[in-house]
Parts: sequence; C-alpha cells; structure tokens
Amino acid sequence: MRFDPVTFTEACPKLTILGRRLLANLTGRLYYFNGQKNRVRVFHAINEQVHFQNYVETGTYLGMTTDFLARTARKRHACVYSCELDPRFFAIARRTVGALENVHLHHGNSVTFLRSLLPQLSAALNFVYLDAHDCEHLPLRAELGILKGCRNTVVMIDDFKVPFDERFGWDKYDNEREICLQHIEGVVDANDVYMPSYPATHEAATYRGEMSPRGYCVIAMSKDLRKILDGVSLLRRL
Ligand SMILES: C[S@@+](CC[C@H](N)C(=O)[O-])C[C@H]1O[C@@H](n2cnc3c(N)ncnc32)[C@H](O)[C@@H]1O
Repeated sequence: MRFDPVTFTEACPKLTILGRRLLANLTGRLYYFNGQKNRVRVFHAINEQVHFQNYVETGTYLGMTTDFLARTARKRHACVYSCELDPRFFAIARRTVGALENVHLHHGNSVTFLRSLLPQLSAALNFVYLDAHDCEHLPLRAELGILKGCRNTVVMIDDFKVPFDERFGWDKYDNEREICLQHIEGVVDANDVYMPSYPATHEAATYRGEMSPRGYCVIAMSKDLRKILDGVSLLRRL
C-alpha cells in the first residue's frame, strides 16, 4: 500500500507535525520549502538582514511551510498569514498549525486574501511566499500585481522555471500556462528577478516522488531590498 501524506496528516495532524520537526532535528531532513536546504539558506540569509513584520504564504496545503514560518516569525513577535482554497487541505491545516498563536489561516483564494491584507502589508516589511498554483489555478500575475504596491516586500515564488538550469523542476500546465519569466512579463521587470546561483545538482530534494528540486525565484519590490538580495551569494540577478 502506498503512503499518502494527505490521508496520514488528516488522521494524525499533531503527530505529523511533531514527527516532521523531530525528524528534521535528528536527520536534517526538512519538511518546508520542499525540503530544499539551499533554498532555506537563501531564506535565512534574507531573513537575517530584514526584520520582517509579516510572513505571508499563499497555498497552505498541509501547513508544513506555515509551521516553519510561524517558528521563525515567533522569534521576532511577528505573525504568519496563510490562505488555502481547497476545503479539505484548509481543514487539515487548521489542525496542524491553526492553533499556533501567531498563525492566521484564511480559507479562500489567494488574490482576495492578498487584497484583504493590503492595508497591513503596504506599511510593513513583508516576506511573501507565493505557492498557490496548480493545474486549475494560476493566480501569479494577479498576486504580483497586488504586491507591487507593497514596496517593502520580498517575494519568493515556488515552481518557477530557472531558464539557465532546466534540471530545476517547474510548473507547466499547458502551452499557455507555465510559471516562468514570460508569464510575469509586464508585472515585474525581469532585471529585478533573482534565481539560484547554484546548480540544481547542489540541491538534493525529493518532491512528490520526483528527484529533481523545484525551481524558484526571489523578487524584491524596492531598491533597498534589492541591495540585500545582491549580497546573497546563493542568488544571482538575471
Ligand atoms: C504546492 S501546494 C502548497 C504547499 C505549501 N506552501 C508548503 O510549502 O507546504 C499548493 C496549494 O495551493 C492551493 N491553491 C491552489 N490555488 C489556490 C488559490 N487560487 N488560492 C489559494 N490556494 C490555492 C492548493 O489547493 C494547494 O494546497
């Protein structure tokens, strides 16, 4: 019988999250950011230099990255806001991370969610993880359009095509819908997009049975934040 993480987490939400934390401490196997260690190093390098006041995630799924962000945010008395469209996943996430005091979960689509957070985000320093996409929904352009107005924001997009290293996996649903630079053209200047400076072979990870790590990009909405990204050796500007 094949192990199904959704069914297991649904049956034992607290045990799953505790087990994942324990396993991470004992073996170094991470359960957030797709288990990608260099990606986590990039996050820490930015987070050490920017005193984020809000951590935002679109696409909560089972709450694994939410848990990591919550523990990171707690150290600086900050909160995590995460949204999930799927009712089953939302119900599971409520049981894995919903009781954490600095976590605010929202059931609904990411665009409405980000719009509702705008008053709070526009005046603050924010880290935003855009991960709410699948074969039915690709709200990336609308999400970035909203966040463009939040100057003090660093955005990380998961499942993004790294054009110079196709060994990183990315999401392509059909000929029109692919998470890549062309898709965000006109919303974000390609010169402001940062990608991993290291090859995919330096990022071991297993993602839903695939052996290739997922590609990603990082975008800073202001010049000052771009200066910080310029100093992160694991990132390179396009
Ligand atoms: C790859 S999973 C997120 C994984 C999670 N961020 C993590 O790191 O563990 C993508 C999630 O986004 C959700 N989703 C898809 N479209 C969405 C939308 N428009 N708004 C909110 N959530 C969405 C899916 O139901 C799914 O649970």
